[in-house]
Amino acid sequence: MSESLILAIETSCDETSVAVVQDGREILSNIVASQIKSHMRFGGVVPEVASRHHVEQITQVIDMALEESGHGVADMDAIAVTQGPGLVGALLVGVTAGKSLAMVYNKPLLAVNHLAGHIYASQLVKPLKFPLMALIVSGGHTELVYMKEEFSFEIIGETQDDAVGEAYDKVGRILDLPYPAGKYLDELAGKGNSEAYAIPRAMIHEDNFDFSFSGMKSAVMNTVHNAKQRGDEIVPEDLAASFQAAAVEVLVEKASKALREHPEVSQFILAGGVAANSGLRGELSTRLATEFPDVELIIPPLKLCGDNAAMIGASAHHMYADKDFSELDINAIPGLMLGE
Ligand code: KG4
Ligand code: ZN
Repeated sequence: MSESLILAIETSCDETSVAVVQDGREILSNIVASQIKSHMRFGGVVPEVASRHHVEQITQVIDMALEESGHGVADMDAIAVTQGPGLVGALLVGVTAGKSLAMVYNKPLLAVNHLAGHIYASQLVKPLKFPLMALIVSGGHTELVYMKEEFSFEIIGETQDDAVGEAYDKVGRILDLPYPAGKYLDELAGKGNSEAYAIPRAMIHEDNFDFSFSGMKSAVMNTVHNAKQRGDEIVPEDLAASFQAAAVEVLVEKASKALREHPEVSQFILAGGVAANSGLRGELSTRLATEFPDVELIIPPLKLCGDNAAMIGASAHHMYADKDFSELDINAIPGLMLGE
């Protein structure tokens, strides 16, 4: 594989992030400016607010990433940017910045898929071995992806309604937790009894790799509602633990089903913001160790699970090696699919 020094930009949602990545493996810098505080009071990401923050921060974040890496733009082999999926106004800020740098410094431009980025975050931990299976769990996505080889993405299963992170955030809202609630709900779940409340394991026995999380969220909502009507107190820790156990069980079950049907797989990657979940990390490690001892599990460290530009740089390395360059007239694609 050829060598590369890539400046990568990620602005698909609510983090303005810029990284310098060497050979798709080594992070020279990875600055993540989070906007969470600005969105918290609205209980979710407000697209207009996100775009404005990206515009205000992007130049400074680029400068910080370059300074920390010890390089200038002129040293780069290419400029990589997240093209989609994501919020159109947010993506546009990064795409515009990437195109401008590519034009001014006469560098090739690489348009990266955000979800490919989440998967390739694992490459910053270990070399990837194919065929592999990846489970992407984030605020907007829940997908099981089979990769026969480098950059070949086959989505074998996905959520039919809410993404798992979205369900976490909605359940968190019901329990009055701050946004984004995943982390807080995870902490709360650690202190509760997971058998206290009945939460359905939707689609768990169905003969496919798809998921459904909206019923779990509704079950939490109904539990709280019914308790209020009866004048009963709910135990938030127990409800959080019961919800987490259901969500994790379904994810782990479908992941093992995918591995049973693809015995040729040698690595399993857990990707996306919800990969930070302690219950999911624990259950998945245990299940793989007992049922699939030959499959290597890669779960990136927390800072590489959430949105960050280093994962975009890792993914871009392969595009650079394949000379998969983009024209300077590319646009943001909010609904970009994996493999497109
Ligand atoms: O990948 P990400 O940073 O952004 C998207 O591309 O969506 O994922 C953010 C999601 C949010 O829904 C957040 O609540 C969830 O990841 N999350 C968690 C945990 N940490 C973050 N969900 C469950 N448990 C966690 N520990
Ligand atoms: Zn993401």
